Amino acid sequence: MQTIIILDHGSQYTQLIARKVRELHVYCEIHPFNKVPELSSEVIGVILSGSPCSVRDADAPKPDLSFKGKLPVLGVCYGAQYMVNAFGGNVVASKIREYGRANLSYVDRECKLMKDVPLNSQVWMSHGDTIETMPEGYKVICSTESVKNAGYKIEGEETYAIQFHPEVYHSKDGLTILKNFVVGVCGARQDWTEESYIETTIANLREQLQEDKVVLGLSGGVDSSVAAMLLHKAIGNRLNCIFVDNGLLRKDEFENVLNSYKGMGLNVIGVDAKDIFYKALEGLTDPEKKRKAIGKTFIDVFDSEAGKLTDVKWLAQGTIYPDVIESCSVKGPSVTIKSHHNVGGLPDYMKLKLVEPLRSLFKDEVRRVGKALGLKDELLKRHPFPGPGLAIRILGDITAEKVKILQEVDDIFISNLKSEGLYDKVWQAGAVLLPIQSVGVMGDERTYERVVALRAVESVDGMTADWSHLPYEFLAKVSNEIINKVKGVNRVCYDISSKPPATIEWE
Ligand code: XMP
Repeated sequence: MQTIIILDHGSQYTQLIARKVRELHVYCEIHPFNKVPELSSEVIGVILSGSPCSVRDADAPKPDLSFKGKLPVLGVCYGAQYMVNAFGGNVVASKIREYGRANLSYVDRECKLMKDVPLNSQVWMSHGDTIETMPEGYKVICSTESVKNAGYKIEGEETYAIQFHPEVYHSKDGLTILKNFVVGVCGARQDWTEESYIETTIANLREQLQEDKVVLGLSGGVDSSVAAMLLHKAIGNRLNCIFVDNGLLRKDEFENVLNSYKGMGLNVIGVDAKDIFYKALEGLTDPEKKRKAIGKTFIDVFDSEAGKLTDVKWLAQGTIYPDVIESCSVKGPSVTIKSHHNVGGLPDYMKLKLVEPLRSLFKDEVRRVGKALGLKDELLKRHPFPGPGLAIRILGDITAEKVKILQEVDDIFISNLKSEGLYDKVWQAGAVLLPIQSVGVMGDERTYERVVALRAVESVDGMTADWSHLPYEFLAKVSNEIINKVKGVNRVCYDISSKPPATIEWE
């Protein structure tokens, strides 16, 4: 398969380059700058990413560019400055920080990289350094008013570089430039599509798994469902799925999702483990302790169910690309805010080999593959839901009674989002049961009951989020319905915090 390699120097935009290249139906992989993989004949070009570092820093990333001159290369921002600095040119601190929008005042019409890029095209600059003088044989291919060497080509090589970021939205012709590189310069066939992915993955899975049996834990989410469908197509009934009811799912979710999986022909064992989970959570109030207890209980339940199956050799997981990309920590390891992906990962003694059919896909690509496999929108368009479920939306300790109340509240909120056509506009929504009671009045009576908070956010990947500006009339209707229908709740709040500084979940 034709592949573009992206060498990561720690830029926040590296994944965006990968997504843009893939939008062009060209497969690409991200690797840390200091772990250049073996470049097989399938590698048709290399992109050097930006970086938060300056090439002038003593500890700046220094990639080994021995492929330069043999393979097409595109340097972006730091990548562009590195190839100047390393080969005899001069990179200096810019007098004015070059940050934000700029327009191209010169474009080399003859250059393959700049094909169809008009004069004045808006580009996005984001660097504190600038290229002052270029090594011999480097030819300017574009400039802005204040940056003469905005882009260059090395003569006699298919090596190109630009100091602006073609991958970000504000570079209006950025996708054209990336296309010019991957298609025009590298000769990509643009044949990496959902259909071709499905076909090759199924063939690879058959080859890898032979006649073996596989077990997979379904969660109701997109990733595990798409992984299951791919495996089902590859090995049919030799795939055994386990779907655990941990008592922390949404209202009626276990039954609904189990039925839709069965409707797709999957071989699924549904396990009612509600009481085991409630027992494990008894008295726990600390969010991290709750997460750990749920993770451990899941493993115990899964292990005991999988143990009933005979001759299983493989464990399938719905791991996706962002979980796999080795992060390039030029600025030190990041701090764990919450131990997110704690559910999953089985003890060594199970001795199962791992198979991960979605390892190379981004989330939106998983959705597209799911659609091509015929997965229903109901499953594909579901909001993300955390592994520990309602346990991290019930602040404090968990009881079956609290779960029941929150399920009712959440169901009213979500059903209304759906019926009012707002569900697909919101990235994630849910309700939170607060550990306090408040005074209210119903009829002539004073009440002292529970408070719930509604949370709905807009986001792209959950890393940052803004609260959804849902219409007041909608919130009024939902609040009314909750207080009228859910016994024990007399107050509804709407969370208007963005992330950062808040997080999406309250715990
Ligand atoms: P936060 O609360 O960190 O959430 O802003 C970001 C996204 O991650 C989900 N989330 C979790 N997912 N296990 C999960 O599988 C967890 O422990 C967990 N905590 C948060 C959250 O729902 C949101 O989509």
